[in-house]
Amino acid sequence: MTTVSDPGSRTLRLEGFNAVVAGGSGNVGRYLVGALLDAGASVIVPSRSEDKLEEIKRVQGNAGNGRLFPLLGNIADESEGPRLVERIRKQVGPLHGAVASLGGFVSTPSVLGSSRAQLQTAVDGYLMAHFGVARALIPALEETRGSYTFINGPLAFDLWAPQSALVSIATAGQAMLARAVMKETASEESSNADPASAARVRVNELVIHTAVGWGEADKKSPVRPEDIGRYVSHLMSDAGSGVHGRTIHLKSPEQLREIGG
Ligand SMILES: NC(=O)c1ccc[n+]([C@@H]2O[C@H](COP(=O)([O-])OP(=O)(O)OC[C@H]3O[C@@H](n4cnc5c(N)ncnc54)[C@H](OP(=O)(O)O)[C@@H]3O)[C@@H](O)[C@H]2O)c1
Repeated sequence: MTTVSDPGSRTLRLEGFNAVVAGGSGNVGRYLVGALLDAGASVIVPSRSEDKLEEIKRVQGNAGNGRLFPLLGNIADESEGPRLVERIRKQVGPLHGAVASLGGFVSTPSVLGSSRAQLQTAVDGYLMAHFGVARALIPALEETRGSYTFINGPLAFDLWAPQSALVSIATAGQAMLARAVMKETASEESSNADPASAARVRVNELVIHTAVGWGEADKKSPVRPEDIGRYVSHLMSDAGSGVHGRTIHLKSPEQLREIGG
């Protein structure tokens, strides 16, 4: 495996690196897939939908040059997830990195005016989907001491509008899930100065402040959707090997300059 950050050409290389993008069919996920393919990684994209997998192949075109592996199935499912991970390891090889970019936006007029089913949908699409994917993938990353990134959004940390409150509730739970998993994957000696080198798997949370898939709103953020993918590639690479247990709010071009972008 070669993972080199080349500040000279400002490109990040992940040749020989096998990475899963859970939710790779989604608004944010497709940029993660593109960036990891650009960096030279082999990229596995599980999806519950055959149509979405066809769309991923169409969107990525020849970018992967044989390194894109669409995989039909629900990797968040308790019994199907581990079976899919086993297939990945047999067909592609050991896993070095994974990123989970899952969501199911639910809009309702108010919290108290919502039904239990609507809250259940939000919890299933964020908290439960992230729980299932982390459960399936993180043990598989232990053998390479790989990297796992939870993608989250600012709604997890603040209430914006009544319409998005159910998503805030579900993603706040997701943020706490990420913290619990970071703690669990830290080594017992992680009180030392270098928690990343002691961690069994490097787990971080990347909070995106960019609108993606919302039309004109997408153009307003100083961080572009492509930059999110480059930041995740950085976290997976040797250049990111010192990072574990962090919640990173990605919102300024300065953060991209720090990783050579
Ligand atoms: N989009 C934005 O503007 C934005 C802004 C800030 C933060 N974020 C964050 O980025 C992440 C992804 O958002 P997104 O807009 O890209 O999401 P999305 O397109 O709505 O969904 C991403 C994928 O999640 C999977 N998924 C949804 N519900 C699921 C379930 N119950 N079980 C298993 N998989 C499920 C689906 O995969 P399959 O159907 O292919 O299986 C879907 O393609 C979220 O954490 C969100 O908070 C997004």
